[in-house]
Amino acid sequence: MRVFIENDYEKMSLRAAEIVKQQIQKKHNTILGLATGSTPIGMYNYLISMYQRQEVDFSDVVTFNLDEYVGLSRDNKNSYNYFMYSKFFNYINIKKENIHIPNGVSKDLEKECSDYEYNIEKFGYIDLQVLGIGENGHIGFNEPAELLETRTHVAKLSEDTIKANKRFFESIDDVPLYAISMGIGSIMKSKRIILLASGENKAKAIKETLSNKLTTKIPATVLALHPNVDIIIDKDAAKLLNT
Ligand code: F6R
Repeated sequence: MRVFIENDYEKMSLRAAEIVKQQIQKKHNTILGLATGSTPIGMYNYLISMYQRQEVDFSDVVTFNLDEYVGLSRDNKNSYNYFMYSKFFNYINIKKENIHIPNGVSKDLEKECSDYEYNIEKFGYIDLQVLGIGENGHIGFNEPAELLETRTHVAKLSEDTIKANKRFFESIDDVPLYAISMGIGSIMKSKRIILLASGENKAKAIKETLSNKLTTKIPATVLALHPNVDIIIDKDAAKLLNT
């Protein structure tokens, strides 16, 4: 794993956006894996500016999002579907039919998961996957557990994640308890992965991810097995690293 420590959130976001831009310039029909949450918002803003300056063209790009809350429809302001359109897709020239986000209100969630996984496979897996990381070391909604799911599945959110994500909701009781999430295998089959982290609250998870020890209790540690991972973090998230 290569580690890039940037001065601040903006620099972290710019480096990530440059990587995405170069990937699309190299392969116009890139299959892009995307994350939601606070961390990638800066990267999305830079990508929108790059698009406006005509440095990048999303017309052939295909995207797969990591996850979606179970029970929230696409027009719910807290859904990841809504997030992706309002923060990114509405401002670039991506084709609607090229966007894939799990349907959290599907009547048959198991089928939704297997169809999603099949679709990723059909596209030949993800070229570049963007990840954030939970304070507990989760990637996607692959939460610390004895056993990790390899494929897209319905995940139960951990207490830690519910607490961390309550900032987006009116009350903690409104945070969904379940989400559809890509599995560890769906993520690990990506050809390249970039993981972004910003802020002191991520420092412990980053230290553990880079510890060269693998445990299902910190799902991001599995990334050590992947041949092409860049960890792009700001100084605060790097606080516990011996650099
Ligand atoms: C989001 C996702 C999560 C987040 C993680 C960090 O699609 O899969 O794993 O990346 O919870 O969230 P933020 O960036 O809000 O700290």
